[in-house]
Amino acid sequence: MEVQTKEDAVKISLTLPGIPEFVSVARLTLSGIANRMGFDIDAIEDLKVAVSEACTNAMKHGCNIADDSYVVNYIVSGDRLIIDVCDSGRGFDLEAVESPDFDNPKENGLGLYIIKTLMDEVEVKSLENNGTIIRMIKQLEE
Ligand SMILES: Nc1ncnc2c1ncn2[C@@H]1O[C@H](COP(=O)(O)OP(=O)(O)OP(=O)(O)O)[C@@H](O)[C@H]1O
Ligand SMILES: [Mg+2]
Repeated sequence: MEVQTKEDAVKISLTLPGIPEFVSVARLTLSGIANRMGFDIDAIEDLKVAVSEACTNAMKHGCNIADDSYVVNYIVSGDRLIIDVCDSGRGFDLEAVESPDFDNPKENGLGLYIIKTLMDEVEVKSLENNGTIIRMIKQLEE
């Protein structure tokens, strides 16, 4: 994934177990970093929802019997916050995921739509049976 990061970019990494209760650790870490960068409360709430959805997907779809942990990387690059959620599961193709049909609402299939709505940029790098990295970027507004 080609994203330009400034030379003085700072990276913070978390390895989390595939246990839903610990998604709160990803959210808390995010709040601390985003708050420090100067994001306002509304933006931080949006970021937390997006990261929670990505973590839930890593656990739900990206789990692998040999390794049920996943990694969240937070990269602070100038006024951009880049968040990568990485799992070692079966992988998927973002282009092949259908957008939700709001005339025929279903219980599932909203996570990626919500992530794309809340973040400025979303990229998925995935290899069949070789894991997924979902990269989400939010720019600090002046
Ligand atoms: N990390 C991942 N690894 C493998 N497949 C994934 C991953 N994330 C998403 N997918 C695939 O993309 C589909 C859409 O994901 P999305 O989060 O939008 O919906 P969902 O997880 O099925 O339901 P919801 O998030 O609404 O509970 C999933 O059903 C799954 O097939
Ligand atoms: Mg989901």
